[in-house]
Parts: sequence; structure tokens; C-alpha cells
Amino acid sequence: MRHIVVTGGGTGIGRAIAAAFAERGDQVVITGRRKEVLDRAVAELGADVRAVAFDGADPAQVEAALPELPERIDVLVNNAGGNRDRTSPSAPEAGLAGVAAAWQANLDANVLTAVLLTTALRDRLNPGGRVINFSSIAAHRGGSGSYGAAKAAVENWNLTLAQEVGPEGITANVIAPGYISETEFFGPEGISPERLAWNVGQTVNKRHGVPADIVATTLFLASPEAGHLTAQVFHLDGGTIAGR
Ligand SMILES: NC(=O)c1ccc[n+]([C@@H]2O[C@H](COP(=O)([O-])OP(=O)(O)OC[C@H]3O[C@@H](n4cnc5c(N)ncnc54)[C@H](OP(=O)(O)O)[C@@H]3O)[C@@H](O)[C@H]2O)c1
Repeated sequence: MRHIVVTGGGTGIGRAIAAAFAERGDQVVITGRRKEVLDRAVAELGADVRAVAFDGADPAQVEAALPELPERIDVLVNNAGGNRDRTSPSAPEAGLAGVAAAWQANLDANVLTAVLLTTALRDRLNPGGRVINFSSIAAHRGGSGSYGAAKAAVENWNLTLAQEVGPEGITANVIAPGYISETEFFGPEGISPERLAWNVGQTVNKRHGVPADIVATTLFLASPEAGHLTAQVFHLDGGTIAGR
């Protein structure tokens, strides 16, 4: 039985990942800021899942949560994040203070949530453990401003992390999804039909992703067989960003 931590595990991709680990008999802790969302997920996902609510971008909240997180961890999935530009756009009209706040919001949500918790839990990672971080297709093409830049930062930080933990047989990899349905990423209104068609049109398999696509790769990266696979970015985007 392994101990798994999935940040942002109350909704979308993270929830699907938490469900898959729990189905396989692992003990799973899900995190997020909204306690009621986490509690609902726990009620639906069963006894092998429990929730710890905190803001992963707030150092004090991360520290306060540590006693509730597992003493030993086999897999840390840093899935929490999202594009804060949807709610606080970094347009020039916002003034420089507005631009700074918008950039900080995306760095907080996508970089600090991963860096702070990984740093705090570093000594709890078992030998042979796994860290799986989340980037986005946005890190590999223009048009996403501070969100894409924040995800690019996650990818570079993952390289340093992989070097640090590698000697203990711990791997650190990044999943960079294209558009994935069944999440809260695009807010309550969801993705527009035009934006969806644009995304699907750029894939080679002419479909969008679903959480199960991400789950399959996450489970593989978390498996003992994937021990020689580290410091990589996996583009789960239907071939939009082509590998070479
Ligand atoms: N869906 C897509 O098309 C897509 C594409 C590329 C990349 N991604 C990435 O995939 C990951 C999962 O997103 P998703 O699509 O599943 O969207 P989602 O349903 O909005 O899930 C994001 C989760 O992160 C949590 N979270 C956000 N900020 C947090 C913070 N400061 N502290 C703790 N938890 C926080 C949210 O919970 P609370 O709000 O309760 O905190 C939420 O459960 C994200 O990193 C996202 O950037 C998604």
C-alpha cells in the first residue's frame, strides 16, 4: 500500500487521479483551498481518501497543514493550478500594479503550490518515490501570458528537483496537458465552442483530452517500472506540440 498526495484533488484532473490511486488500494490525501469541495470528493471516493484543506501558495498554511499530511510519501502529484488570467487579466489597462498582481497570481497558483509543498515534504519522500508536476501546452506556445510563463517555470524547476532527488531513486516528471474536459479550468461557463474547435483543430488525432488520458500516464509514471524515466515533460495534447 502506497501513500499518495494529490494537490487540487477535489476537482477535475486531480480528482480523477485520486480516484484511480484509491481504486488500486493506495492511501490518498487530496488537498485544495475549498474544504466543502474536498469533503464532497472524499464522500464520493471512499475510505482510502482523506482531505486536507489549505492554500498551497501560502507558506504559513502549508506549514500548518504538515501534521495532517502522511509521515511517509510514495507519490506526490503537484496538480493544483489554473489560469488566474481568466479572473485577473494582466492587460496594460490594469496599470503596472495590476499587471504585477496578475503575474503574481499565476506564479502563486502554478509555481509556488508545487515548490512549497515539495520542499516541505522533501524529507518524507520514500526512496524510489515519485513526484509528478503539472505544466500545460500553454508553456510551449504563445498567447497565454503569465500562465504559460508560470508553467514554463514549473518545467525548469522540475529539472533541478530531478537532479536533487535522483540519487535516492526518486523521479520527477512533468505532465503538460492540452485541453482536458470535465474540469473547472474554464470556470462555471466552460470552454467556448470556438475555443474548443481551435484546440481540437491543432491536434493530430482530432479530439480533446479527458481526465482518463492524464490518469493513465500518471499511473505509469508512479509505477516501479518507470524508475529510469525522470526529468521529462510529457505532452498529453493529441500531438499538438510534436516531439522530435
Ligand atoms: N483542464 C485543462 O484543459 C488543462 C490544460 C493544461 C493544464 N492544466 C493543468 O492541470 C491541472 C489541474 O487542473 P484542472 O484542469 O483539473 O482544473 P480544476 O478542476 O480547476 O482543478 C484545479 C485544482 O487546483 C486547486 N487549487 C488551485 N489553486 C490552489 C491553491 N492555491 N492551493 C491549493 N489548491 C489549489 C483547486 O481547488 P481550490 O480552488 O479549492 O483550491 C482545484 O481543485 C492544473 O495545474 C492546470 O493548470 C489543465
